[in-house]
Amino acid sequence: MISEPVTKLLVAQVAHELGAHQTYMGISLHFERQSLKGWARFFHGQSVEEAGHAAKIIEFLLDNDVTFTLPQVGGAPTAYASAREAVETALGSEIRVTGQFDALATAARDAGDHRSLQFLQWFIEEQVEEERTMRALLDLIDSGINLFQAESHLEGITG
Ligand SMILES: [Fe+2]
Ligand SMILES: [Fe+2]
Repeated sequence: MISEPVTKLLVAQVAHELGAHQTYMGISLHFERQSLKGWARFFHGQSVEEAGHAAKIIEFLLDNDVTFTLPQVGGAPTAYASAREAVETALGSEIRVTGQFDALATAARDAGDHRSLQFLQWFIEEQVEEERTMRALLDLIDSGINLFQAESHLEGITG
């Protein structure tokens, strides 16, 4: 059994992860419009990862026999004023998600819900990597490199 407050937050987190999935899909489309195929592919990959996070939480809820309704997910823009603005949006999203997992871990700890606490560790670690990736992209943009030339550096950023 997992605790009631954690269950509620986990169901909400499914929507947050799917929201991030949408946000990244939108950012990918922003780059697609500008023929920046490498950037588009990068954010499409991030988008797929976020959907995977939602699936991972759903699996945990099913494993623990929780009955739930899938929460509503908001929309996301597909055009930004600049690459920097798009990546800042992504970093902002990651920082928000980090806060959500902190709140989840606090709730699990307070409820003595060790099963959830254990489950959450993976996400807490993952957030360190996700924030770092977005900061690295901002550094890349701020270097002043041409966005087309920057595409050859994208792979190294997550690797
Ligand atoms: Fe995520
Ligand atoms: Fe993420």
